[in-house]
Amino acid sequence: MSDNTPQTDEPAGGETADPTNDDMLVETDVAAATSGSTAGATPDPVIRSRDLDVFYGEEQALDSIDIDIPENRVTAIIGPSGCGKSTFLRCINRMNDRIDACRVTGELSLRGKNVYDDDVDPVALRRRVGMVFQEPNPFPKSIYDNVAYGLEIQNIEGDHDEIVEQSLKRAALWDEVSHQLDSSGLELSGGQQQRLCIARAIAPDPEVLLMDEPASALDPVATSQVEDLIEELAEDYTVVIVTHNMQQAARISDKTAVFLTGGELVEFGDTDQIFENPEHQRVEDYITGKFG
Ligand SMILES: Nc1ncnc2c1ncn2[C@@H]1O[C@H](COP(=O)(O)OP(=O)(O)O)[C@@H](O)[C@H]1O
Ligand SMILES: [Mg+2]
Repeated sequence: MSDNTPQTDEPAGGETADPTNDDMLVETDVAAATSGSTAGATPDPVIRSRDLDVFYGEEQALDSIDIDIPENRVTAIIGPSGCGKSTFLRCINRMNDRIDACRVTGELSLRGKNVYDDDVDPVALRRRVGMVFQEPNPFPKSIYDNVAYGLEIQNIEGDHDEIVEQSLKRAALWDEVSHQLDSSGLELSGGQQQRLCIARAIAPDPEVLLMDEPASALDPVATSQVEDLIEELAEDYTVVIVTHNMQQAARISDKTAVFLTGGELVEFGDTDQIFENPEHQRVEDYITGKFG
């Protein structure tokens, strides 16, 4: 299925609540849409899903997910393997479009605009929603070119040298690589490579940063560096992180969503409440290690 093929059953232009947001994701409006955040001005969630179902062929991977993800916070998604955490993340920037068998129904909105509407350009969407994966995956290019990559392919204007430097600084990597920007990203250590991928993801100045188990391939020191970095990034970005490490979720997130087998979102709330006093017995059993 091509990136331009809508995968929702909703009629085009169907359910978007706020007409002023209606064209924020349309390609021509990207500059306006990314020019400023409305932090503090509204309690509206940045990401909202309602009755979101995802199927791979006949198999249902997500079952009627309703969630409101707040701005400039770290939201952790936890749950046992196969419960749909990555699938949910990939709905937010429509990476699931690339999976032929995948079908998405329901609402998944970014600032009030359903990203599955017909007029949404997935490339423009992904400029606003950056992503970091489990395995650090720098390109076989220089450190500089890795960070500048998104600027080049998305024709982002401005002083690229400056943006590269700022992105590496925000990713807490500049001090380690400033003297070797021309050397290959592949020569860095695993932890440095992951911070390079974070720098690459934030260079186009997205609003949302999706991270799918970003520290699970790293050693403990590199993990702790990346965890510190994620907390800092939430000052500027809305971060959604999948982790199978519950201590990590408890350490770095403000909100926690617990998905359980069957693709259900069983509980979503403040991280302290979820870990100290979950409402659902199944969540308590999962968190205390009785299963999963
Ligand atoms: N590309 C795919 N094709 C078919 N089934 C998939 C695909 N990706 C994931 N699934 C299935 O969807 C369910 C959720 O997977 P996933 O979102 O990767 O879970 P998690 O990230 O929580 O481990 C699993 O049953 C998995 O087998
Ligand atoms: Mg996963």
